[in-house]
Amino acid sequence: MRMIDVIDHKRNGGELTDEEIQFFVDGVVNGTIPDYQISALLMAIYFQNMTKEERASLTIKMMESGEHLDLSEIPGIKVDKHSTGGVGDKVSLPLAAVVAAVGIPVPMISGRGLGHTGGTLDKLEAIPGYQIEISEKDFISQVKDEKLAIIGATGDIAPADKKIYSLRDVTDTVDSIALIASSIMSKKIASGTDALVIDVKTGSGAFMKTLEDSTELAEALVDIGKGVGMKCMALISDMNQPLGNKIGNALEIEESIDLLKGKGPKDLVDLVLTLGSYMVLLGEKAKTFDEAKQMLEKTIADGSALDRFKAMIKAQGGDERVIEDYTIMPQAKYKIELPAKEAGVVAKITADEIGIASMLLGGGRQKASDKLDYAVGIELHKKIGDAVQAGESLMTIYANQPEAEIESIKDLIYQNVEIAETATAPKMIYKIID
Ligand code: URA
Repeated sequence: MRMIDVIDHKRNGGELTDEEIQFFVDGVVNGTIPDYQISALLMAIYFQNMTKEERASLTIKMMESGEHLDLSEIPGIKVDKHSTGGVGDKVSLPLAAVVAAVGIPVPMISGRGLGHTGGTLDKLEAIPGYQIEISEKDFISQVKDEKLAIIGATGDIAPADKKIYSLRDVTDTVDSIALIASSIMSKKIASGTDALVIDVKTGSGAFMKTLEDSTELAEALVDIGKGVGMKCMALISDMNQPLGNKIGNALEIEESIDLLKGKGPKDLVDLVLTLGSYMVLLGEKAKTFDEAKQMLEKTIADGSALDRFKAMIKAQGGDERVIEDYTIMPQAKYKIELPAKEAGVVAKITADEIGIASMLLGGGRQKASDKLDYAVGIELHKKIGDAVQAGESLMTIYANQPEAEIESIKDLIYQNVEIAETATAPKMIYKIID
């Protein structure tokens, strides 16, 4: 088989065969296909798309290109959650704890942030001592004992995806539904979970800006999961404004612990309880959504979810005193208020640009090798639909540079907040795909 014929087949709108996809994935992993031919095929897929069968085949072959975690030693239905990523999206942290507290094993393999989006692993590393790299053996025994673990990918999961993703990044082929779906699901299938709830974000801070594209991505993800026998569902949630009130690594740990103490912001609590209820249903610990939701609310009220979070921190080497004392995490030197320039109702807080502002403060990465400042970030005092008086603080910036050095970041934030006469809060959840 010749790679040029595979490219030609897809470029002309054909459906790739299993053999062609296997040839491509093998060549990516063993280095026999040059980057320019891999990139050419990725661009052809970007424009010509893939059928359901091609997406499933690409996913399986990428998954088979590396290790497959065997979690069968952990009793019960293992349930994980994946989010397509956003700004202020710290959902995984409290979610893993509430679901684990009802007795469902949650083996969570998470990622790092890039660009305007944050990453769960970066947030956890704001806790002194927390180890995201643990052995497969320790991961399994922690999920057995404590019911939850949040770690980075172990070993060699889906190496074909690593290579393909790095080329997508530099050839402007990231936002292809076929390529995103196969990338995400190859890693999730390899991670050995039995069930998966996927949070597909939609809006300015998301990969998919429209509800139509988000729906297509959610359907593609669920199709692939179900195709391999995984219990799988997706929901589409809002990412037009940041989620919750805090953006930044240590700040998002604070907000997650606050939620587990019963003091979380409404939009974040709603999303955690909705995703969590579906995880409980997939984990077969409840028969109805309402029953599942009540079980989760109880874990917050009786402190058992907070106890699970603390146990996870301790098991992974972190300083569990963080539960009571947030100041053991890095703290910013400066707190700078951003007052509203006029009175009215907040109509827009563009999620991706606020994420970029947090990144520019040092809380995120422009490129994978950048070092993070865990202390910095942004706290929102107003969300879309909230009334504000002129001079009232819209946000607090947590910075390690004095105000005079962050004027351009302040400008960026002001340009991305709109105050109007009226506005209503956006819906949190747009659709369920089951
Ligand atoms: N996350 C992934 O793992 N892959 C993609 O392609 C996009 C988001």
